[in-house]
Amino acid sequence: MGLDQGPFSREELITAALENIGHSYAPYSGFNVSAAVLMSNGKIYTGANIENAAYSATVCAERCAIFKAVSEDREAKIIAIAIVGGRDCKTDEYCPPCGVCRQVMREFAVPDTMKIILAKTVEDYIETTLEALLPMSFGPDHLR
Ligand code: THU
Repeated sequence: MGLDQGPFSREELITAALENIGHSYAPYSGFNVSAAVLMSNGKIYTGANIENAAYSATVCAERCAIFKAVSEDREAKIIAIAIVGGRDCKTDEYCPPCGVCRQVMREFAVPDTMKIILAKTVEDYIETTLEALLPMSFGPDHLR
């Protein structure tokens, strides 16, 4: 199945992220994050932040979801990602992606069209693009 920049269900993507937040492993920060990524093959992959006693070994929720997706289907591109997060699994604030995660998104997305959805609930969310959050970015094209 192929999916370009056509319509997709924000509700389904946000719901997937919200339902996955219990998989976050964040004993050090107490800040739980979950993400659901919609790929161009039509599949949704979820990820959560996985912390580590050696702090720098922590992986963010967004990269967890993206790496799951790309390791399953190398050709798939990111259409959209929904991100939820907050202390003690409370998603009462918008949780923007860190700079490293933005750069990882850049590797597997078209910045102008990739949607980034920061959600508190299925009804309460901000939608932006990767281009807006990572302007003038460096990507695979520069090395071709
Ligand atoms: N975190 C994410 O999972 N995604 C982000 O984009 C920002 C930060 C996680 C990493 C760490 O486990 C916790 O939030 C506090 O920084």
